[in-house]
Formats: sequence, structure tokens, C-alpha cells
Amino acid sequence: MTPIRIIVCGYGNVGRAFVNLVATKQADLATRYGLAPKIVAVVDIGGAAVDATDGLPLDQLQAAVENGQAIETVADFGRPGLSGKDVLQSMQADVLVEATPTNLTDGEPARTHITAALTNGMDVITANKGPVVLFYDELRTLAQSKGGRLFMSAATAAALPTLDVGRLCTAGAQITAVEGILNGTTNYILTRMGQEGCDYATALQAAQDLGIAETDPTLDVEGLDTRNKIILIANQLFDQSLGLADVDTTGITGVSPEDMDRAKADGKVMKLIGSARWQDGKLVVKVAPEALEASHPLAGVHLSEKGISFDTDSMGRITVTGGHSSPTGAAAALLKDLIHTQIFSSFSKTRKNKK
Ligand code: HSE
Repeated sequence: MTPIRIIVCGYGNVGRAFVNLVATKQADLATRYGLAPKIVAVVDIGGAAVDATDGLPLDQLQAAVENGQAIETVADFGRPGLSGKDVLQSMQADVLVEATPTNLTDGEPARTHITAALTNGMDVITANKGPVVLFYDELRTLAQSKGGRLFMSAATAAALPTLDVGRLCTAGAQITAVEGILNGTTNYILTRMGQEGCDYATALQAAQDLGIAETDPTLDVEGLDTRNKIILIANQLFDQSLGLADVDTTGITGVSPEDMDRAKADGKVMKLIGSARWQDGKLVVKVAPEALEASHPLAGVHLSEKGISFDTDSMGRITVTGGHSSPTGAAAALLKDLIHTQIFSSFSKTRKNKK
């Protein structure tokens, strides 16, 4: 059995769902993968819960939190005021799971957490897009110099496999273009508008009621969430150093009922597409609403489903769709990356697709 010592930073919906999955899948992880994950610390805003020896008793932790208790006050394990940086600098662990809220201004506190973990030679698995969108080169270089690895399935459309397909499943092929429906909220809104003639405001409210929209839904509808994901995907698949300003981004707020009607009359379907395509030797990465032909492999991806399609030189076109848009789906992507830290020794190394 391979023990894996894990520090979790961020105990919101995704962090909790991850701890819950680890707790419920312990036996499965042991039987199928020979893994014995041990969560030695969970960090939240007010402090941490820590058990460096045996790992935290996850059922006790979950029960306390369900009763409204903050983790830093849990009996025997709570450490009020202990920060993620303190924990990462003072405890031995193999993997950081970073699930604090995304901050696209300075990437904090996740940038500090990830930097501390990589400096210690740990592997990092992040659901947080901020530090990897803003500081990918810096973090990748640090990881490479210290022998750690950076995994980010949960930040790149979560339960929908994107990077795994683009690196592992297409090994040996060159990817020549990528296009994706990478945001469930906007796809939900466009589907409701296109299929039922639902108005924009009603469809957005319904997406918020489903819990798939960001707390600030402008991140979804102005295309910023899609932009963040396509930056992460393009940087990794095409060995780029793209920043926020490199991606021309248009969301769906300017899509009118007339645009939807016109697309429908032409037998097309309107989708918000994040894409990376080679043009004249340059990779052009953008986010924009596109009217797709009905035969396009992403045209049938509806409501909160997402999808990604890869053009390759030797495998033809490969499209993947689906995956839960939910905290559990994001947690499942974190767990998948955790398993991958053990079964793919060099899996996070950049794979170059260049024309
Ligand atoms: N708000 C996002 C979506 C989920 O609608 O897909 C997190 O990336």
C-alpha cells in the first residue's frame, strides 16, 4: 500500500467535496490502486485542523463542520490562526490540494500555498485557476527545479477531461486545434434561449438556481471563466506563456434573440467557444460566441454540459463531452489527479504541439 500524505487548502464546497470523496472511497482506492491517502491537514480562513501522525479522522471532521463548527475549533485537531503557509512550511506531506477561491488579481493566497509546496518538492493539484493563469511559467519552472508536479484538471473544466485527453490519450499525435464549450452556465443560458426562446435574464437566474454559475456571474457570461480555462489548456498543450491580455474575449451578453433566431433559421446553433488555432504560424487563442453547423461535434452539447474537441494530425478529430458541473465533479477531478500522481510518473510534463 502506498501512503500519500495530503494537505488541503480551502474548505469551501470543492474542498469539502474532495474530503468527502476521499473518505467514502478509501476502500476503493486501496483495492484498485493500492493507495492509502491520509489527509494530514485541512486549512480554512480562520485556521487549520491538523494530525501529522495518523491523518485527520475525516468522519469526525465532517460531522463537526456539518454542525456549523469551524475546522480550527474541532476538538484535539483544531489550530486557530494557523495559515496555509504555516502548515506547508512546518509539515511533511506529499501533495497539496489547493481549493481556495480563485483570485485573478494576485493569485493569493493560493500562489503562496503552491509556491511553498513546490519549494518543498511536493506535487500540487489545484482547482484554483488564479495562480496558474497568472503565474504559470514561474510555477512550472519552480516545479521542474524541485522535482514536483503541477496538476490542474479541476481548473480546466473539472469532470470533463481536457488536459488528460490532450496529453495522454493523443500521445504521438500532433494537436493542430482545440475548441471547447468550457463553461456550463453560458451553455445552459444559450441552450434555453435557443431551444425555448427563454429570455436571457430568466435563463441566467435558472443557472444560478442550479448552483453552476460563479458567485459573480459576470465571470461566466462575459466569457472570463472560459478565457481562464482556454489559457490553461493552450499553455500546456502548446507550450505557450499566454496571459489574460493575450486572449480576445467576447461573452454572451451581446447575443440577441435575433442572433439566436438567425442561427436557428440557418440550421446552426449558437455556442460560446474557447479556441486555440494555428493561423500563419501563430497560435490564436480566443473566446467568442460562434454559430456552429448542426454537424459540428459540439453542436449537440446542451444545457450545463461541456465539451472539448481536438483536431489532430494522425488521429483525426477527437471530441469529449459531459462530466458533472458541480462541486462533486470538481472534487472527482482532484481525486483523479491524485491517483495520477501515483500512476503516471512524468504525466504533468509539458507536451509540445507546435506547427
Ligand atoms: N461557473 C463555471 C461553469 C464552473 O459554469 O462552468 C466553474 O468553472
